[in-house]
Amino acid sequence: MNYPGTLRNMALTAIGTILILSACGGESDGLSDFERVHGVGPITETIELSELDMEKAQRGEQIFNTQCVACHQLDATITGPRLRNTFNNRTPEFILNYILNPEGMKEKHPVAQELARDYRGNMVSVGTTEQEALELLEYMRAASEGEFR
Ligand code: HEC
Repeated sequence: MNYPGTLRNMALTAIGTILILSACGGESDGLSDFERVHGVGPITETIELSELDMEKAQRGEQIFNTQCVACHQLDATITGPRLRNTFNNRTPEFILNYILNPEGMKEKHPVAQELARDYRGNMVSVGTTEQEALELLEYMRAASEGEFR
């Protein structure tokens, strides 16, 4: 038997195992690939966005002004983060899941857990329906394109 060769193979196997373990390490959060990107909640499939719909966005603005404005503004951080550019930084599905399931997001998702550490406030569900969440998303989308100044 060629001992140096065997040792070399053992060493390579060990290195390979370490590489595989470390590659998996960042993903041992119990989330599916979808959830890691798009958040945890009722939205479990990617959605198709159509053309920006300003009427829908305006309905979203009204909902924002009743359900969200206590903690959020577009251009200033108050209790919660400012939301002008959130549409550019997250996926639509992530935003919808955050609105519809803030408690579950903070329980399971590392991004939400980081936000919870960064902000003193605590977002709780205010009973937003999926329809309302889609209108809020349109509002945030329009805001990210410079509307609602
Ligand atoms: C009681 C205060 C409060 C209310 C009401 C509230 N939020 Fe929040 N929101 C927060 C806080 C604080 C965070 C960050 C930490 C956390 O989730 O607790 C947050 C985080 C978010 C995020 C994630 C931002 C990012 O960078 O990914 C979104 C999106 C969001 N809120 C949208 C909304 C919308 C839309 C509403 C209205 C339906 C709303 N929030 C109502 C306090 C609130």
